[in-house]
Amino acid sequence: MTHTPVLKHHNNLEPYPFRENRRVTSDVRPRVIWLTGLSAAGKSTIVDSLNPVLRARGLTTCILDGDTVRTGLCRDLGFSADDREENVRRVAEVAALMVESGLTVMVALISPTRSARHLARSIVGSARFVEVFVDVPLAVAEARDPKGLYRRARAGGIPAFTGVAAAYERPLFPELHIRTDEVDVRRAVRMIDDWLLARG
Ligand code: ADX
Repeated sequence: MTHTPVLKHHNNLEPYPFRENRRVTSDVRPRVIWLTGLSAAGKSTIVDSLNPVLRARGLTTCILDGDTVRTGLCRDLGFSADDREENVRRVAEVAALMVESGLTVMVALISPTRSARHLARSIVGSARFVEVFVDVPLAVAEARDPKGLYRRARAGGIPAFTGVAAAYERPLFPELHIRTDEVDVRRAVRMIDDWLLARG
């Protein structure tokens, strides 16, 4: 009877297993990844999961989230049409400075109007701007309602709430369109990561 050796020597020509899915690359250019969509569409969830994936690629990243910037940089702004446009403009200006210094910037803002998103694209520069439409039917966003905002808005407690009392203009030509009622967060992250890798 022959004995199977307990210890197998690693064949040097094969990659180590833990390297398989971890392609660290500096081939991905700094960009501004601009996620737009209704409240509760999943924008913040996606950027939070995308962040470690991009960092593992060796990118230095930063997140600009509506709920966060509105406590500081944009705390003087409300939700009138003018204030939302100013909110988008400021975030785009900051994102432009960051991407200029080599950061990969993820923005999560409702940014409900085409004109404001167009402005953001022109501030950042079209070649570096990746518009990601985080799309979900309004009924699904309302059913999710993680912060109870839709319920309050329907009861008249939040004026000009996007999707209820203020319009959301769907992007016409986003670089990426992600239906978060059809794909999970991992798949959404993969779609963005694949897009970036394909374009360099
Ligand atoms: S944006 O329209 O100006 O782009 P932003 O993304 O910064 O919006 O902020 C959206 C967040 O503000 C929501 O997640 C919600 O928590 C809060 N919020 C408060 N009032 C409103 C409102 N009227 N419409 C939408 N979001 C609101």
